[in-house]
Amino acid sequence: MRTTDHNKLDRLFIERWSPRAFSSEPVAAEDIQTLFEAARWSPSCFNEQPWRFVYAQQQDDLERFRSVLAEGNQVWANNAPLLVLVFSKNSFTSNDKPNRWGDFDTGAAWMALALQAHKLDLYAHGMGGFDADKAFAVTGMDSSEYNAICAVAIGKLGDANSLPEALRERETPSGRKAMSEIAFEGSVKN
Ligand SMILES: Cc1cc2nc3c(=O)[nH]c(=O)nc-3n(C[C@H](O)[C@H](O)[C@H](O)COP(=O)(O)O)c2cc1C
Repeated sequence: MRTTDHNKLDRLFIERWSPRAFSSEPVAAEDIQTLFEAARWSPSCFNEQPWRFVYAQQQDDLERFRSVLAEGNQVWANNAPLLVLVFSKNSFTSNDKPNRWGDFDTGAAWMALALQAHKLDLYAHGMGGFDADKAFAVTGMDSSEYNAICAVAIGKLGDANSLPEALRERETPSGRKAMSEIAFEGSVKN
């Protein structure tokens, strides 16, 4: 159970977490669109909106997307009914200059999606463990224009007993560093 000393904090922030036990129940079409709509309204440098989401919910697409995931992630993510591959455009559209904030902005968009998922009683679990070359190959995204950022498994919470023992033991919301380790007034040498 996560707790906070800050009563004004919206519960959303501590209630969101990344489980590995997913129910295979499909995600409603409207909910899928709502997730991407949340991401769409994220802020970005020059309003570039560099994020791109390619998703799989049909069995044949899911199989192709699963093959992109690291084996350690396939063990649990193969049960998720919705898999998303997240990409970020690496240059500004207006002048073709490199966009060094694109990945940051795409991170903001993923978080919006993850928080919206929680509001819809869904869970989103990000994965850095995936093969970028395969992600480009299965989605048709252009690797010269985009960075492959993350894979995401999305769905309803499943039964933790369905997980291999080692993962079952870790199937609980994690803690965080102390505030004093991450936020500093004035300088880091107070
Ligand atoms: C960019 C990114 C990459 C991650 N990669 C993996 C991964 O490959 N496999 C995995 O099981 N979890 C992965 N995670 C989940 C993190 O381990 C998890 O978010 C972190 O432990 C905090 O837990 P919480 O999301 O439940 O609050 C990733 C999360 C992010 C944001």
